[in-house]
Amino acid sequence: MKINILTLFPNMFDGFLTESIIKRAVDNKKVDINIKNLRDYSKNKHKQVDDTPYGGGAGMVLMCEPVFDAVEDIKKKNTKVIMMTPQGKQYDQKMAEKLSKEKDLLIICGHYEGFDERISSIVDEEISIGDYVLTGGEIPAMVLTDSITRLLPGVIEEESKDNDSFTDNLLDYPTYTKPREYRGMKVPDVLLSGDHKKIDEWRKEEQIKKTKEKRPDLINNRKRKTIGKYSLIEDTSKKQIVNLNMDNAYKFSPKKKGVFDVNKVMIVEPTFISKVAKKNLQKKLGSLLNQVQIVLNDETDDEGASYVLGELDRMKALIISLYAKYLDQEYLSLLMIKLDALKNEVALKEMEKIETVNYNKKGRSR
Ligand code: ADE
Repeated sequence: MKINILTLFPNMFDGFLTESIIKRAVDNKKVDINIKNLRDYSKNKHKQVDDTPYGGGAGMVLMCEPVFDAVEDIKKKNTKVIMMTPQGKQYDQKMAEKLSKEKDLLIICGHYEGFDERISSIVDEEISIGDYVLTGGEIPAMVLTDSITRLLPGVIEEESKDNDSFTDNLLDYPTYTKPREYRGMKVPDVLLSGDHKKIDEWRKEEQIKKTKEKRPDLINNRKRKTIGKYSLIEDTSKKQIVNLNMDNAYKFSPKKKGVFDVNKVMIVEPTFISKVAKKNLQKKLGSLLNQVQIVLNDETDDEGASYVLGELDRMKALIISLYAKYLDQEYLSLLMIKLDALKNEVALKEMEKIETVNYNKKGRSR
């Protein structure tokens, strides 16, 4: 994976890149981290990249031109562009896991009082690392880079990721090392028993106990559903399924590194996956239909149609790349026909609008 970081303060990354696990991951070519100085993209003779805000107010605002130029220079076809800002979506382990599957990231470190709003148009995702304001996006960019890099295959032991805090929305279990007793505090007997089944059970119980105690919000947001022999745990705050389990499912944790790039595998009946896939698709389609309806009924909005056309194309691509394998052929072709019909309607509407604009222009010039 390649991680490009666009910053006004490249030196801030020196220590980060030259110590510990990140250094080893870079040396072993598990990740390529490329620090780019935003000032190199300034056309101004003073290398200025920010200016005062229109309408007044304190601080300096990052200008469009150097950022647009930098992104256009660095970005490749498959690059995901991320802006670090306190206004972004709050970062969590699930997002780290998703981003670790990308091939190429470009992280822009915002600075001072913020950035020109138009920069958002070239950004795929705005991310915040928490509800507090830092002086810049450099530390947040390091947080992202660190949490993503440790998830890349071969960076840390696969087993140590299995029980990470926040995996399945639970905190990690307590761990102990030598000595067996320290200042009167003893290591729990079960950990010295050598009985791995008991140790696993104890650890799971402790995870739940610890999460209830320290982060009850993680537990309270978990809704358990049972469908036949399956149990689903949904995080209602994120509307995400965080755990899927099945009685007597065949589960295993691959041990041999380099052969598998997964931590755990569970064999589940395809019909069940298809049910979950259809439910997710229905939700996505619902919100897309709303957008289509708005475009078809709004005579004033000039750009909505091309945006919705893009969304419809993205939906088709998502279905093909992610959902198709879980859906039966009949359902899939019907879905594609529906999406094409929607695309035709929106494209027609867009043409009508263009013709009206041209007609009005001609009318005016005559
Ligand atoms: N820049 C300043 N504060 C930030 C935050 N909390 N998250 C991401 N970027 C930021």
